[in-house]
Amino acid sequence: MEFYEVLERRRTIRDFSGREVGDEVLNRILAAAFKAPTNDHLRQFEFVVVRGRDNIARLAVPVAENTRNIQQTGLDAAAGVMDEDEYAMFADALPKQQRMLIESGCLVLPFFRQQGCPLCEPADQSSLNYFASAWAAVENMLLAAAAEGLACAFRIPIGNEPEHVKRLTGAPEGYEFACFLAIGYPAPDAHVCRQKVIRVEDRIHWNVW
Ligand SMILES: Cc1cc2nc3c(=O)[nH]c(=O)nc-3n(C[C@H](O)[C@H](O)[C@H](O)COP(=O)(O)O)c2cc1C
Repeated sequence: MEFYEVLERRRTIRDFSGREVGDEVLNRILAAAFKAPTNDHLRQFEFVVVRGRDNIARLAVPVAENTRNIQQTGLDAAAGVMDEDEYAMFADALPKQQRMLIESGCLVLPFFRQQGCPLCEPADQSSLNYFASAWAAVENMLLAAAAEGLACAFRIPIGNEPEHVKRLTGAPEGYEFACFLAIGYPAPDAHVCRQKVIRVEDRIHWNVW
């Protein structure tokens, strides 16, 4: 697939068909992570791949409750205030946060080595370099998955989710994971959120803002 077509094809899909992702295609997607730029040259990423709905469900236990809280408080308050497309995305995404991870049947946890200071207590912007590199790697995987005809959805861990996942996976001290990354084949009727129309020219400022 041509590169710009891959960019167009990549969309967050939260509805999966349940068809299993083969090892070969998964390996190609994971290999794409190691082609991304990295802050320390070492690409200290490790992936925990979790297959099987029951195994994923165990990792996603806190996701349902944490999301329910946001859904009840945040979404109701945002109705009529939030941008229409943004609201539509959240209305689709929030109820699916746990389900999408489980139904993908293939959950990837991209771990990275966090050095210098704790992830959520950065001293300055460069303290987040390890996190930023992990995200560059995640983006490569999203694009590789799109090129393979696969769909992805991801969730940023909140509240007690990082500790829960690190404990269950036995992740070594000093490692964090960027997100819950669900990879799978899209359901035939998978929902695709309407995108905001952006005129690139409007976002470019020459010499000064
Ligand atoms: C930093 C970041 C955090 C995100 N967090 C979540 C999340 O927790 N759950 C989720 O379902 N989608 C999440 N998304 C996906 C966005 O909702 C999605 O990328 C956005 O709506 C644009 O749609 P598209 O990916 O289809 O282009 C996140 C995306 C980014 C870049």
